Amino acid sequence: MKFTSTLLSTVLLTSFALAAPSSRSGLAGRLQRRGRTLQGSTLRSKESKNSKTTFNAATGNTSAVQYSENWSGAAITSPPTGQTFNAVSGKITVPTPSAPSGVASTDGDYAASAWVGIDGNTYSTAILQTGLDFTVSTSGAVSYSAWYEWYPDYAMDFDLTISAGDVISMYVNATTTTSGSATIENLTTGKTVTKSLTSTSALGGENAEWIVEDFEEGNSLIAFADFGNVTFTDCVAATAESSEGVSTATIMDIENTSNQVLTDKNLISDSSFQVSYTSILEQAMEAGGEGEGEVGKGTRVENEAVLQQLILVSSGGGRC
Ligand SMILES: *[C@@H]1O[C@H](CO)[C@@H](O)[C@H](O)[C@H]1NC(C)=O
Ligand SMILES: *[C@@H]1O[C@H](CO)[C@@H](O)[C@H](O)[C@H]1NC(C)=O
Ligand SMILES: *[C@@H]1O[C@H](CO)[C@@H](O)[C@H](O)[C@H]1NC(C)=O
Ligand SMILES: *[C@@H]1O[C@H](CO)[C@@H](O)[C@H](O)[C@H]1NC(C)=O
Ligand SMILES: *[C@@H]1O[C@H](CO)[C@@H](O)[C@H](O)[C@H]1NC(C)=O
Repeated sequence: MKFTSTLLSTVLLTSFALAAPSSRSGLAGRLQRRGRTLQGSTLRSKESKNSKTTFNAATGNTSAVQYSENWSGAAITSPPTGQTFNAVSGKITVPTPSAPSGVASTDGDYAASAWVGIDGNTYSTAILQTGLDFTVSTSGAVSYSAWYEWYPDYAMDFDLTISAGDVISMYVNATTTTSGSATIENLTTGKTVTKSLTSTSALGGENAEWIVEDFEEGNSLIAFADFGNVTFTDCVAATAESSEGVSTATIMDIENTSNQVLTDKNLISDSSFQVSYTSILEQAMEAGGEGEGEVGKGTRVENEAVLQQLILVSSGGGRC
């Protein structure tokens, strides 16, 4: 709407100098994704009829999972008293996305992002984040793109070739509230891409997060890919004086607007946890109360909706 040709060519030139838009979810997707995050200053969690708990092996505690339409993972909502987060890092193995059974995509693509960031959960006016998108088309073509973003500015692509199975580290560092850097390192080759950033939207240093996101493209959430598992390891949230892992984080799962919970969490330790995509079959089992030691209770209506999908999928020759 507001993209004047000057702005657009500036963006294009900048992008040309910095990064080659590499995949379908490259520059065009980035521009559209500009509005992909925050609305108001509310916590990302939504009201849910589902209720589930996650065992935290680091503390021995069991805590309630919060649900979000678009974020799954771990988010620390406040730093130690009197401090602010200035660096967040985590490592993942690049997953291979696939199209979920029985779920339609309006544009033919399924995708998700995995990223680390400072702010954007309860502190909502800025996020410094970096990560990668993984996309699969209905024909099965898989593509990846690595990006950095200081929301509300655009996300931009890093020039980095990514393949399934690569081990990558992601870092965001804030030098001040309005300057910092985003870095992605390929631990397979040691190749590192980094970008210094400044913004007029100051960070609060209030939140640290490690997220698998169903991101927005255009004005709606992209059809969520079956990403199998994304395991975050070496999770560190640092302040100038101390650092911590994910054991005090709020654990979030994605529940879509049809009340289907699409992810599951396994908190492995203070520095690592796994986000799993839950298939329609697993959703039905959870709703039927057969989750692995977890309290997974959908309402009767939701169970029926899941069963309907199962019937549709199996009668459609799907992979059930
Ligand atoms: C992400 O989810 C939150 C609530 O869970 C919602 O307020 C926000 O609008 C969602 N973002 C998008 C882009 O849908
Ligand atoms: C970013 O912070 C991490 C600590 O989380 C540190 O190891 C790394 O050196 C920092 N990188 C930069 C560029 O400041
Ligand atoms: C990492 O390096 C490997 C080996 O060269 C390469 O195949 C892969 O695409 C690289 N991945 C990233 C994220 O740079
Ligand atoms: C995901 O991890 C679980 C173990 O936590 C494993 O049982 C499952 O096979 C994995 N799925 C994929 C697609 O790798
Ligand atoms: C929610 O997820 C279920 C199961 O994956 C899917 O069938 C349904 O279409 C999704 N609903 C929306 C609104 O995306």
